[in-house]
Amino acid sequence: MDYIIATHNAKKRDELYRILSPLGIKVHLDSELGIELTDVEETGTTFKENALLKAESGCRESGMPCIADDSGLTVDYLGGEPGVYSARYAGGHGNDEANIAKLLKNLEGVPDEKRGAAFVSEICCCYPDGRVIYAKGECKGRIGFESIGNGGFGYDPVFMPEDYGFTKSMAQLTAEEKDAISHRGRAIRELAGKIGEQI
Ligand code: IMP
Repeated sequence: MDYIIATHNAKKRDELYRILSPLGIKVHLDSELGIELTDVEETGTTFKENALLKAESGCRESGMPCIADDSGLTVDYLGGEPGVYSARYAGGHGNDEANIAKLLKNLEGVPDEKRGAAFVSEICCCYPDGRVIYAKGECKGRIGFESIGNGGFGYDPVFMPEDYGFTKSMAQLTAEEKDAISHRGRAIRELAGKIGEQI
C-alpha cells in the first residue's frame, strides 16, 4: 500500500523516507502525487493531538493513508518548554538560529547536570476506512552551551544525546547515526511494525 506524508519540512521528509523505504513502506510527498495538502494549523496542546490533526486532514484530502509527525524539544529546567511550540519558540515559524539563541539565553548560568532535555516524536497514521495508528519515540540528552556541528536541523547543534555520553551534538552525527538513536527514528520503526500488522 502507498502512503502520503503530510509534512512541509524537507529535512523531516528526508528522514521519514530514509527510514521507511528500506522497510518496504512506499511513501510519497503530496507534490509527487500532483496534489497539495493544506498546511494544517497546529492548534493541539500535545504532540499527539497535532499529529492526528495533520494525518486526519491529509487522509481526508488525498483519500490515501496519511502519515504525519509532530515533534519537538522538551527541556526539564524550563518545565517542558518549548514543547509543542518548538518550531515557533522565538516567534516566527522555523527560525532555527533564533530558537537556539532564545533557548541558550533561557538556560544562561544553568549547570550541565540541570540541562536535561528530550526530543519527542509522535506519529499518527490515518487510513481512509477510519483506522488510526500511533507511535512515539523519545531521545534523551542535554542542552549544550553553544552550537556545534552542521548536520541535522532545528535544535540539533545544541542537543547532546545521552547515547553518545553527552560528548557530541546531534548535528555532529551522520544521518545514519542520527536515525539509529533519534526520537523520529524510534517512532518510525515502531510505526512500521504497526503498519505491518495492518496489511
Ligand atoms: P513540527 O514541524 O511542528 O513537528 O516542529 C518541530 C520542531 O521541533 C522543529 O522545527 C524543530 O525546531 C524541533 N525538532 C523536531 N525534531 C527535531 C530534530 O530531529 N532535531 C532538531 N530539532 C527538532
